[in-house]
Amino acid sequence: MKNFLITGGAGFIGSNFVVSLLNKYLDYHVVVYDKLTYAGNLENLLQVTDNPRYTFVKGDICDATLVSETVQKHQIDTIVNFAAETHVDRSIMDADAFMNTNVQGTYVLLETARKLGLERFHQISTDEVYGDVPEGIASLESDPVAPRSPYAASKASGDLMTLAFYTTYQLPVTITRGANNIGPYQYPEKVVPLFATNAIDNIPLPVYGDGRQKRDYQYVLDHCRAVDRVLHQGKIGEIYNIGTGHEMENMTMVRIILDTLGKPESLIRHVEDRPGHDRRYSLNVEKIQDLGWEPKHSLAQAIELTAQWYRDNEWWWRKIKEGDFQTYYEAQYGDRLRAAQ
Ligand SMILES: NC(=O)c1ccc[n+]([C@@H]2O[C@H](COP(=O)([O-])OP(=O)(O)OC[C@H]3O[C@@H](n4cnc5c(N)ncnc54)[C@H](O)[C@@H]3O)[C@@H](O)[C@H]2O)c1
Repeated sequence: MKNFLITGGAGFIGSNFVVSLLNKYLDYHVVVYDKLTYAGNLENLLQVTDNPRYTFVKGDICDATLVSETVQKHQIDTIVNFAAETHVDRSIMDADAFMNTNVQGTYVLLETARKLGLERFHQISTDEVYGDVPEGIASLESDPVAPRSPYAASKASGDLMTLAFYTTYQLPVTITRGANNIGPYQYPEKVVPLFATNAIDNIPLPVYGDGRQKRDYQYVLDHCRAVDRVLHQGKIGEIYNIGTGHEMENMTMVRIILDTLGKPESLIRHVEDRPGHDRRYSLNVEKIQDLGWEPKHSLAQAIELTAQWYRDNEWWWRKIKEGDFQTYYEAQYGDRLRAAQ
């Protein structure tokens, strides 16, 4: 395991993972393979642009020819698949791209890994595949998937195909299912950076419904360390949940952001909820802890660090929020915010 194809490596988690991998393993080579959708951004990778062990290839994971050529040209032995359409609200507006990338694209990567006899295929998945989790229960890796949004259904499909390639072809696969990640370089449509950047600009924070949905917000670099741990010590054919094992109501998250940025609660607007919004996710994380991994940040610390990063890095997010983002924001929140006045 030395030559990595990191798909989606120009996105939020992928780019954090690429930088940590290159910094930690001085004999590893990384090819970032990314379509550069609205969520991909080469500015996330500025720290490694000049690293001779880093290469960027612009491409779609659904393009079987280019994936295969890239894997052969760079003697890739390991694929880590971060590439995905990732925003639940966009999947509710139109799920086409989610089906293409998250289902067909995952299949293309698996088939390439199988045909070329790669050492490892690792699928990055999400706690959302377990669906809404009742109070008192924490999802185990052995639980059935019960996705409820088009995004979650497409990710669950990717997981099932990955497991099928292990069972049917003995492809050496592993899967990690992460809780919500937050931290540097997250596209500001996601709730924590959306609220932090709105608060910085003194504009309302549109909170879905009563805001009492429960989530585990983990710091992205903790998640990256856990993926690294599974790649190096995980058991082939296995799934590992990754999260802090703690949860908090969204209203608590909102208040931490406002406190960190010194902004008033009068910015909070309760707006019409997302359809089919899962009330609660909760992961049992004992299996990854048994590999010796622990998160280094609590939920509150992760939220504070994230809000501070957005306060200190307007150069990164302001131009994003001023571009096509405005069209998305109006479609998703315009009517909701006007109704909440
Ligand atoms: N963000 C979270 O909280 C979270 C939690 C658990 C799991 N995940 C999973 O982690 C992975 C990364 O999430 P993220 O938040 O960094 O996403 P992101 O939206 O920030 O980045 C996704 C990246 O994938 C690229 N991409 C999209 N379609 C592609 C295609 N067809 N071919 C090649 N590249 C393509 C984009 O250009 C972008 O760089 C995803 O698989 C997601 O499902 C995310």
